[in-house]
Amino acid sequence: MAENKEIQNIRINYKQKSLDVKDVCINPVDQFDKWFNETMKSGILEPTAFILATADKNAKPSARTLLMKGYDGGGFYFYTNYESRKGKELADNNQASMIFFWPELERQIRIEGKVKKVSEEESFAYFKKRPFKSKVGAWASNQSTEIDSRMTIMKKFFKYLIKFHSKDIPLPQYWGGYKLYPDYFEYWQGRENRLHDRICYKHENDDWLIKRLSP
Ligand SMILES: Cc1cc2nc3c(=O)[nH]c(=O)nc-3n(C[C@H](O)[C@H](O)[C@H](O)COP(=O)(O)O)c2cc1C
Repeated sequence: MAENKEIQNIRINYKQKSLDVKDVCINPVDQFDKWFNETMKSGILEPTAFILATADKNAKPSARTLLMKGYDGGGFYFYTNYESRKGKELADNNQASMIFFWPELERQIRIEGKVKKVSEEESFAYFKKRPFKSKVGAWASNQSTEIDSRMTIMKKFFKYLIKFHSKDIPLPQYWGGYKLYPDYFEYWQGRENRLHDRICYKHENDDWLIKRLSP
């Protein structure tokens, strides 16, 4: 086991950049666009990866990593299995939170809001763009259900591989996209001595209020 003393000594003094209310865009999605473009240019491994936190109807939280598949002025898109744990939680409670952490840029973005399913047409348009075997994988996996072995899922995968071989793969009825419609954003820029910059946007009366938070 790693020594706790060693773990406690792991820390980086963030020094690269700063963030002030006067630096940020009036619209929080424009600010996201700015930082996301910088992240894309930085060449990091998974620039679209984010943590999605959901909660069940008893407010018990759960979180997992997903890939963001697009954004526009209205919100952020991701795709998954509607019958997975997150899918069930979102059906019971449509409030969710997203976190992007880009350590190479010493940045974190928190986004909160309500989630809605995208249309079946939109889901299918994205599904069609996935690699053939990823589409087969969506058919093979009842995501988040218990299976007895890897063999079970591989058998299902090959069953669907044969079934759909050289055919257009239909959209599974349990698979598709969600869009998170934000009402809160926070842009975090790491600074020296843990005195980080935190600029948040709250949606109130059809407007975005921009404030600085204590680190
Ligand atoms: C880098 C990364 C990207 C992932 N992207 C997705 C994704 O876009 N959609 C998805 O359903 N699961 C994705 N996963 C798997 C999820 O983290 C999770 O295991 C799965 O969705 C089941 O979560 P749930 O049981 O909470 O519903 C990804 C995992 C990692 C580590």
